[in-house]
Amino acid sequence: MPLQVLDHPLAGHLLAALRDKSTPPEQFRRLSKSLTTLLVLEATRRVGTKEIEVETPIQKTAARVIGQKLAVVPILRAGLGMLEPAVDLFPDVAVGYIGLERHEDTAVARSYYSKLPDLEGRYTLCLDPMLATGGSASQAVALIRSCGAEQITMVCVVAAPEGVARFEASHPGVPIVAACLDEKLNERKYIVPGLGDFGDRLYGTP
Ligand code: PRP
Ligand code: URA
Repeated sequence: MPLQVLDHPLAGHLLAALRDKSTPPEQFRRLSKSLTTLLVLEATRRVGTKEIEVETPIQKTAARVIGQKLAVVPILRAGLGMLEPAVDLFPDVAVGYIGLERHEDTAVARSYYSKLPDLEGRYTLCLDPMLATGGSASQAVALIRSCGAEQITMVCVVAAPEGVARFEASHPGVPIVAACLDEKLNERKYIVPGLGDFGDRLYGTP
């Protein structure tokens, strides 16, 4: 169960354009948002609901609505490209931020910022497009847990097998929703075939 790959033709279509190295930042940002909408829909499939009564123009009827508080936590910087669609879908969501940056040579993630709300009882999504070594996601989810979250889902665009294995070992039972499981990591710990450096492509940095 832990890794769930989004099985939808539109997800594949959007991911193909994200992978394309000729896609410019402006289009890359739009594609990221569209794909994140699909990922967040899947990642919130198990959110708690409750029954209410509504009155249509015809008569009263029972209806199910979201019955649980949610939170989203993007990992800076690339995860910011996934925040807006999550907030658009769930306007009442609480938002926390975690800043992590991989060292260029070692690929070890260093924490430089953290601002999280109380996450107790909240259905919490951690957003980061790339699960490469899994170091960033594992650190982030440890922080999220320390704020009281118990129902957590990791939401990614592309995952590498090495990262999935490390994340599962660190946080058994925490599901990962991704658009694709790629082949492997290269010698620089980039995902193959991947889509390059997501943050750089999102913001047009070299
Ligand atoms: C990227 C990406 C993830 C991390 C994944 O961020 O957005 O956070 O690498 O790699 P890992 O699984 O090996 O930890 P990066 O550190 O490049 O920072 P950025 O988002 O600011 O570009
Ligand atoms: N971070 C990225 O942005 N891309 C990768 O392939 C690995 C880490």
